[in-house]
Amino acid sequence: MLAAYAAAQSASDPLSGLVVGERPEPQARPGWTVVRLRAAALNHHDVWSLRGVGLPADRLPMVLGCDGAGVDEAGNEVIVHAVVPSDGWRGDETLDPRRTLLSELHDGTLAEQVAVPSTNVVPKPESMSWETAACLSTAWLTAYRMLFTNSGVQPGGTVLVQGAGGGVATALIQLGAAAGYRMWATSRDEAKGARALEIGADRVFGPGERLPDRVDAVMETVGAATWSHSVNSLRPGGTIVISGATSGDAPAKAELTKIFFKQLRVVGSTMGTQQELAQLARLVVQAGIEPVIDSVRPLAEARDGFARMVDGDVFGKVVFTVG
Ligand SMILES: NC(=O)c1ccc[n+]([C@@H]2O[C@H](COP(=O)([O-])OP(=O)(O)OC[C@H]3O[C@@H](n4cnc5c(N)ncnc54)[C@H](OP(=O)(O)O)[C@@H]3O)[C@@H](O)[C@H]2O)c1
Repeated sequence: MLAAYAAAQSASDPLSGLVVGERPEPQARPGWTVVRLRAAALNHHDVWSLRGVGLPADRLPMVLGCDGAGVDEAGNEVIVHAVVPSDGWRGDETLDPRRTLLSELHDGTLAEQVAVPSTNVVPKPESMSWETAACLSTAWLTAYRMLFTNSGVQPGGTVLVQGAGGGVATALIQLGAAAGYRMWATSRDEAKGARALEIGADRVFGPGERLPDRVDAVMETVGAATWSHSVNSLRPGGTIVISGATSGDAPAKAELTKIFFKQLRVVGSTMGTQQELAQLARLVVQAGIEPVIDSVRPLAEARDGFARMVDGDVFGKVVFTVG
């Protein structure tokens, strides 16, 4: 089958290890189902895998991809849930210390077919397009849990999103605006800032810019480059929810004094549960949200999509159609 996979890794030149070519079809196994994908989408996670972060070299070649939607063995239209718990795990799978994401241990979704545990699918709402469904498994699920499970902010509160253009960031802006939060965002790029306003941000600011008010919560995925600004932008008792560190995980200033003096909460957040994914799919339909899609291209042209992400050019999700 056609797949986009990591054949090698390079920290400085991630595209050098990417191959778009043939891989064996997944084998049926008890308790698992094979999903024939109709669409899949890219996450920064796939670039990290090509850079050698989070994917040990001895697991190569590995089909990349955590996001996808398609038709399972029983003929159901499904969205794939990418968090795979270890055998016998009960409860919130994101807290399983031995859980993996698709493409870390088991082949991922950037392919014609993917095998997942049969519990790792949720129904695709009938009215939802394949492209939309393919956006939800990772960045959108992460944004959902950051905002609604981990921020503690009620509708009406003010939330700052660092870095407006990314997959998680655009999901945060769209979900927060739909749920009645006042969404503020920063971006390095004026054009991306203008687009953030179009998709629901109330105001946008340049990197590090002083805000007119302190916010209730900051959604952080940029990391080192924005950490100080995140701490300084919060009201006393406010919350930083962090789920990524694209620009590095060692900020020049950790701001420990401000964190304790202002009694801030720093909450880590990773992916979400299968139940949260099902809730997210329903919310997207009920609220009439159309996830921002940067571009759609056939899986055979996956390399161009990866290049956009590596160059930092994306606004929204990079989607691949399959079949
Ligand atoms: N923990 C989890 O479960 C989870 C799930 C999904 C993603 N993540 C992580 O979250 C991060 C974002 O993922 P994504 O898929 O949304 O990636 P992406 O689409 O590539 O987004 C990158 C974002 O980072 C901003 N950015 C990048 N470099 C920056 C810099 N030097 N200074 C300021 N802003 C910068 C960009 O903002 P502008 O260009 O607008 O400035 C953009 O919003 C990644 O590190 C990813 O691994 C974690």
